[in-house]
Amino acid sequence: MSLQPTIPTVAVIGTGVIGRSWIRVFARAGCHTRVFDPDQTQQSKAIEWAESTAAVDERLGFLAVGGAATEKQRIAPCASLSEALVGAGWVQESGPEALETKQRIYRELDAAADDAAILASSTSAHDMTTIASGLSGADRCVVAHPVNPPHVVPVVEVLAGRTTRPDVTERALAFLESVGQTPVEMHRYVPGFLLNRLQAALIREAVSLIGSDVASAAAIDAVVRDGLGLRWALMGPFGTGHTNADGGAGEYYRRYGDAYRALWADLDATPEFSDRVIERIHSGTEAMYGPDSAAAVGEWRDRLVRGIRRLKADDPAPTPETGGA
Ligand SMILES: NC(=O)c1ccc[n+]([C@@H]2O[C@H](COP(=O)([O-])OP(=O)(O)OC[C@H]3O[C@@H](n4cnc5c(N)ncnc54)[C@H](O)[C@@H]3O)[C@@H](O)[C@H]2O)c1
Repeated sequence: MSLQPTIPTVAVIGTGVIGRSWIRVFARAGCHTRVFDPDQTQQSKAIEWAESTAAVDERLGFLAVGGAATEKQRIAPCASLSEALVGAGWVQESGPEALETKQRIYRELDAAADDAAILASSTSAHDMTTIASGLSGADRCVVAHPVNPPHVVPVVEVLAGRTTRPDVTERALAFLESVGQTPVEMHRYVPGFLLNRLQAALIREAVSLIGSDVASAAAIDAVVRDGLGLRWALMGPFGTGHTNADGGAGEYYRRYGDAYRALWADLDATPEFSDRVIERIHSGTEAMYGPDSAAAVGEWRDRLVRGIRRLKADDPAPTPETGGA
């Protein structure tokens, strides 16, 4: 992977689960990555984590030989917010999700960051219009919401606030692409953005099916893992529809429109989500993977996701230019 970041120096502010993974994204891509967390113990742990996962990636062949050492040299731990912001053209804020905390962090960022810096937030919930309300630099603030962990899963939802300058959004999209992510622009705020809304729609039905004993956790997971999910690793619902009728997506959705309308009317809008149902999900999942297996399954998942991404890079989907005609 040879990348040319459009912004050479970045600051990662907040180094929990998401911030530490952003460190990997930026340093791996070639950015000078300045790091700050007010909890300096957490900051040290995050940098150790970044270095050790880079070493594992090098061993697995996801980084070139010597790549982990080069990545490490690009990471600069900082003792204060102002130190971290020196020279940074992109600031990736990944502090706690509480709105008041985000607003306080943004006041500090706006006061201390270079005038030209873009202030991006990893928030999963808030609209930038609300986070940056009243700031003189609200026009350089934008949501850049990753999927966990962003150094493995590339999609980033990009959402401007009402006063964000269009050139800031354009530069944000270009920068995220230049560091190897897949930025997706949203046109307006909706709770959950795109990914969590789509995920919530599927989980709602899965919870309903297990809660009403239509099938086991193993059966429901198998349908997604070895059915829907195999296609979804390559294409979304519209691309899938495109391949399910010879005439493409239009023919498919016209032909099955009534069937989908009937199913939507039958779906359970508010399934029971009680301790009873959650216990059934938990025990059913442990039956698949074993007790206390979350970390091992997570490592396996991250390794195989990288393998899938490599396959897709080696054999990309047809485009209008390459053969869609
Ligand atoms: N965890 C996920 O799956 C996920 C996915 C996408 C987006 N997000 C979003 O990313 C952000 C971070 O989530 P997380 O899961 O990494 O949380 P986390 O609790 O693991 O990490 C938060 C970090 O922020 C630090 N912090 C506390 N006060 C701070 C301040 N004033 N300035 C800077 N840093 C401060 C904490 O010390 C901690 O290290 C949140 O907005 C969250 O919604 C999380």
